[in-house]
Amino acid sequence: MLDETVPVIENRSLTGGHFLLSLDAPRQAPGVRPGQFAMVRILGRSDVLLRRPMSIFDVKTAAGAKSGSPNKVAAARILQLLYKIVGRGTRLMADLKPGDKVGLLAPLGHGFFEEEYLPRAHASDEILQVAGGIGIAALMLPAKQLADAGFRQRLFFGGRTKDDLVGLSEFKPLVRGMLLATENGSVGYRGYVTRPLEDYLTKHSDKKFLLMACGPGAMLRATVELAKRFRHPCLVSMENRMGCGVGVCLGCSIRVQGTGHDAYQRVCTEGPVFWSDKIVWETEKKLGIKE
Ligand SMILES: Cc1cc2nc3c(=O)[nH]c(=O)nc-3n(C[C@H](O)[C@H](O)[C@H](O)COP(=O)(O)OP(=O)(O)OC[C@H]3O[C@@H](n4cnc5c(N)ncnc54)[C@H](O)[C@@H]3O)c2cc1C
Ligand code: FES
Repeated sequence: MLDETVPVIENRSLTGGHFLLSLDAPRQAPGVRPGQFAMVRILGRSDVLLRRPMSIFDVKTAAGAKSGSPNKVAAARILQLLYKIVGRGTRLMADLKPGDKVGLLAPLGHGFFEEEYLPRAHASDEILQVAGGIGIAALMLPAKQLADAGFRQRLFFGGRTKDDLVGLSEFKPLVRGMLLATENGSVGYRGYVTRPLEDYLTKHSDKKFLLMACGPGAMLRATVELAKRFRHPCLVSMENRMGCGVGVCLGCSIRVQGTGHDAYQRVCTEGPVFWSDKIVWETEKKLGIKE
């Protein structure tokens, strides 16, 4: 993990207030593992002191290069973040222009493919990626690594409207199929994405799946319930609010199975990826970290 000041190469505006930020980070990009995140600092703003956590969407060898598959990570120098404007920090990020600089603390956290995860992937007939909105950003690099290794995958992607379904063109070549859902019915199933997921799990109840999910709390909870009901293992990438991102402030702690000190883990250091059955969902803390 390195704390660097890096230049913006591109900050591309997408639909629905989403942006794809490409940073020239030759010392950080090569060390990225799928599922890790970065902390971004907006420089020169005393009103936005805290860094903002962002999943590492992709790493590439050069500007305009085809998406870098993780086996080319060693040669990567461009680190990409896919983000949505929700408040002050992300609004300022949207103003970034090529040549501007940001503080980048990366890569952080444990990724999706620590050794313990892979045997469960091998034991599955198919891996189901379940994304809600900007949660897609955490699943892109893992999906790439799995596609490279020949795993069969399917994407379930939900958003409020079709404008929330960003990154689809990048995901499409990695998966056998995509099931889309929007709350307003502008694309795919009208409603929550967990409904087509439930239908799929019901239809293929003889199959073994590994679920990998990232998105808003309610969607994650519903996905985890389905995984439990159909007895499939499920990995979740948590997006709790963060203060430091490096394990010091404890602001991102969640309740997990265990007692005493073992009953809490930090999303930034022990996560952001957890087995869903490790998390004590009903008592998950929501800390209001204020600047
Ligand atoms: C590990 C991790 C990975 C993330 N990856 C991405 C990503 O790839 N792309 C992306 O767009 N966002 C991602 N987020 C969420 C992102 O960090 C927040 O949206 C961002 O910090 C908001 O900053 P802001 O100053 O714009 O908003 P603020 O002014 O701080 O808050 C505006 C609103 O957003 C809500 N908010 C702030 N932080 C979060 C959060 N972590 N989760 C849910 N709601 C929040 C606040 O409650 C408030 O309602 C990630 C968060 C974590 C912890
Ligand atoms: S954000 Fe500070 S300990 Fe996790």
